[in-house]
Amino acid sequence: MHDTLAHIPKMTGYAHSACDHAFLKGYRDEGALAISPAGFPIALRHSAIGALTDPSTTRQLETESLRQQGIADGPIYELFSRSMLFSNAGLHKKRRGPISRTFAFKLMEGMRSEVSRLAGEIVTSAKGCGEFDFLDAFAGEIPARIIAQILGLPESEMPRFRTLVYSVTRAFKVGFDLSQRAEIERDFEVLIDEVDRLIEEGKRHERDDFLSRLVVDAQERFEVSLEDIRWQVITLIIGGSDTTRLALCSTLALLLSHPDQWQAFCRDPEGLKKQVVQEGLRYEPPIASFSRVALQDIALEGHVLPAGSPVSVCLASAMRDERVYADPFKFDIFRDDHTRWHPAFGAGEHRCVGEALARAELEECLAAIARLAPETTLVQAPVVRGLNGIRRIDQMRVVMN
Ligand code: HEM
Repeated sequence: MHDTLAHIPKMTGYAHSACDHAFLKGYRDEGALAISPAGFPIALRHSAIGALTDPSTTRQLETESLRQQGIADGPIYELFSRSMLFSNAGLHKKRRGPISRTFAFKLMEGMRSEVSRLAGEIVTSAKGCGEFDFLDAFAGEIPARIIAQILGLPESEMPRFRTLVYSVTRAFKVGFDLSQRAEIERDFEVLIDEVDRLIEEGKRHERDDFLSRLVVDAQERFEVSLEDIRWQVITLIIGGSDTTRLALCSTLALLLSHPDQWQAFCRDPEGLKKQVVQEGLRYEPPIASFSRVALQDIALEGHVLPAGSPVSVCLASAMRDERVYADPFKFDIFRDDHTRWHPAFGAGEHRCVGEALARAELEECLAAIARLAPETTLVQAPVVRGLNGIRRIDQMRVVMN
């Protein structure tokens, strides 16, 4: 590695750390960069987010790391080679363009009443029925059902769709378990058939919905093939599932472990739902970090990241940066120092295309719980862990009353 990285501290002892945030803080205090347990430079301060998502960096091609794991074909490989998430420059614009036009703010805002109805239904059936796993029974249901509705999937196919979604999502986790490859790829093939069928229906204009508009827009305006649309739709399905599921759990758990703030929220769910989600995403972001490659030498608060170096931008650390947030280890839904663009959704050309939907889902679900089940109690808080990509979460047990 270039000698400009020689004096950067190496992170050690991560596996034994009780809390990601305390671990990260130690290194963030020392400097803007460290060498992560995986051996790459990791940028720890808030200022790095803008600096490392401008045109001085590019998106790493994840197909290289897949090849190193022996995956050089099949649907996982295809997804990583065709998805907007791992594309750059003109190709990225072409792949993202039709989705960002069609998956528009207005359409997603329109989903609020449906999210609220669905959340109300789950709360009503769980209320008074004793302890249950919120991760599975509530948080896992919402993103899968809502995206299925947006894609025009009939109600009867929802349970099977949900199982497929969380199965294929495993391929997006950094260093996923290779022994699961065959099973994930089998489910991928079924999901691909499902998505292709829905796109075909959209092409025949059988409905006036998101997919029909996407097909027209993609083909007429961006000259994108139907096969390409398939991979972007699958990216949407995967990108919005684990992330939103995790944020729902962690934000509710944080609220329930701060009774004063939970009670304040229950008194005014409509007025406080936006602030609650802002703070939940800052305190425990679903995506801990994302990677880029430096296209030129980049100066970062006293360090130089050499051209060609991969770098991980650590959102989990940046959103606890004392230089930006007052008392950052305090969960406070009333804080007024959130930045205009929330870092949890990334920055630059790859900034999350599903932000409006994610916010609608999180705000409406949490408001529904506060309104309908203010006596909810936390039996087992979830543990959120991970420094790379989408973080892991285990079960979360609650009683709703
Ligand atoms: C709380 C929930 C969510 C969080 C925290 C989140 C976070 C992020 C972040 C940080 C990125 C940028 C990754 C990078 O630069 O490498 C991203 C990209 C993306 N997200 Fe989300 N996301 C969420 C929900 C959603 C939803 C609901 C959808 C769609 C249904 C979605 C679809 C996408 C897509 C397609 C991209 C790739 C954009 C591109 O490469 O141009 N996300 N998300």
